[in-house]
Amino acid sequence: MKLSQRIMAIKPSATLAVDAKAGELKAQGKDVISFGAGEPDFISPEAAFAYARRAMDEGRTHYPPTPGIPELRREISDYYKRRFGLPVEPAQIVVGCGAKPMIYEALAAIVDAGDEVILLAPTWVSYIEQIRLVDGKVVVVDTEKTNFVPDLQMTEQAITPRTTAILLNSPSNPTGIMYGEDILRGLGALAVKHDLWLIWDEIYEQLVYGENRHFHPLQLMPELAERIITINGVSKTYAMTGWRIGYAWGPRKVMDKINAFQSHLTSGATSIAQWAALGVMRESEADMRKMRDAFQARRSLICGLLAVMPLISFPEPQGAFYVFINIKNCLNKSYKGQLLQDDIEFCAALLEAELVAVVPGSAFFAPGYLRVSYATGEDAIREGMSRLRRFLEEIK
Ligand SMILES: Cc1ncc(COP(=O)(O)O)c(C=O)c1O
Repeated sequence: MKLSQRIMAIKPSATLAVDAKAGELKAQGKDVISFGAGEPDFISPEAAFAYARRAMDEGRTHYPPTPGIPELRREISDYYKRRFGLPVEPAQIVVGCGAKPMIYEALAAIVDAGDEVILLAPTWVSYIEQIRLVDGKVVVVDTEKTNFVPDLQMTEQAITPRTTAILLNSPSNPTGIMYGEDILRGLGALAVKHDLWLIWDEIYEQLVYGENRHFHPLQLMPELAERIITINGVSKTYAMTGWRIGYAWGPRKVMDKINAFQSHLTSGATSIAQWAALGVMRESEADMRKMRDAFQARRSLICGLLAVMPLISFPEPQGAFYVFINIKNCLNKSYKGQLLQDDIEFCAALLEAELVAVVPGSAFFAPGYLRVSYATGEDAIREGMSRLRRFLEEIK
């Protein structure tokens, strides 16, 4: 039977695939250490359970309002006021089943077939496939040579009359790099000059370490208000990945359409999970800080262990929970007689020989790199890094 060209072109999520492979090996009794998943290993804060239980006890089992329960939209609005000083009306907010579908819904609302969306590579796997799913064209601006921050001139050169949006993410998955004030102002100016949308994915905005500071572009350039769609959610900040709650906000003109789209797609996010999200946003700031401190400690640990390994290099991550490692010096060399031609072969050999799962950079439009997630316990980090080191030492 026929399958659509759109679906035939889609590639499964490489990060989830790595995790599935690691899970398979674990199920066979193998001692696999996975640095694949972009998922906190903590259990959600107690408030999530308390609010969810209460919602169940109160029988809140009917269709929720499509854009989200009013209490949660109000809470998100208050959060943006508190954290960034930004006035966001509840009516500008749509809550959905995770940040991931909100990006898709945002793209569906602004991209026509053949329209171009600029991605700043290395870039998150799902952006690429989602742009294709709405029949848009992915245009990649590489940032490898500019320390993983976009060069404004190169970005401007990539803009054509078909460009509709720049989709950007800071702190970044996969690099952990953050865009500072100058870059944000520069990208904002390009959006204004060329009449573009910005889709601003700040799902890791609370996971920022040391002296680094996260800005929302509207704090710097209020004139972007009519052209920016913000994506956020509770998955990473509050260890709530399984509850599937994210949200988008932006100008009413587009958010009303996203809401209409969602009304035909999912009818909104699970009501009980929305109450759980409300619980953590209201009451779990202290839990969140504890988890963030743990990530910061893990970042120091993993960076310290990686820094003394042969053949590799990496920029110190400023936020999120990933280290993005350059393995180009390992390629076209061999590991115990096996030639490692690219990052995919490197990852496969590492998994086979040392039972360590990491994601190849190719999945992020960055061949020659690996993404290592440190959203995992310190013992696993120590053991996994010692295996990685042993593997690297064998590369000749
Ligand atoms: C950059 C980025 N945006 C969005 C998401 C999706 O988050 P959610 O679990 O809320 O769908 C992820 C998850 O990996 C991510 O890394």
